[in-house]
Amino acid sequence: MASQVTCTLFSLQFILFSYFFTITSGAFCEEGAEVIAIKRAEKTTHLHFYFHDIVSGENPSAIRIAGSDKSSFGDTMMADDLLTEGPEISSKPVGKAQGLYALAAQNDISLLMVMNYAFTEGEYNGSSISILGRNQILNDVREMPIVGGSGLFRLAHGYALAHTVWFDEQGDATVEYNVYVSHY
Ligand SMILES: *[C@@H]1O[C@H](CO)[C@@H](O)[C@H](O)[C@H]1NC(C)=O
Repeated sequence: MASQVTCTLFSLQFILFSYFFTITSGAFCEEGAEVIAIKRAEKTTHLHFYFHDIVSGENPSAIRIAGSDKSSFGDTMMADDLLTEGPEISSKPVGKAQGLYALAAQNDISLLMVMNYAFTEGEYNGSSISILGRNQILNDVREMPIVGGSGLFRLAHGYALAHTVWFDEQGDATVEYNVYVSHY
């Protein structure tokens, strides 16, 4: 008898909980049946461009915003770096790489990259991809994940391959990017 009462109370509680849970989650998020119905095939786009990181001179495109006096570990830069079609900085602009890179390793040269690559050219004008990855800048080719995007690159995922084509003793560099991005 006692266990039956407990069981009935429990069931009631469960029903009430389910009821409120359904109401709450229904208000906050909806099952995307229509979205699934119109889902288009995913496609992969290959982008090729050059990234110019200028840290020297009167008008650097990347500036140090944090770090310690003890070592370079923790040095953090804010960049608004030009992206161009060809390797020369004077070639046709295709966008900007905006965001942070920081020295995230104590015993080697490895950057944490947290950057949006915002494009301004052709059909990709106004669209962007977001990169969050590890960049061991002394390696010939570095692979970094694309974790999202906007505009034509909405729901993007993929990877970027970065290869330094030029650098000088002041720290300025030109990096070639081959990006493979899947999106809808
Ligand atoms: C990109 O879009 C902006 C805003 O719509 C526009 O002002 C600009 O001229 C466009 N650039 C190119 C290269 O089409």
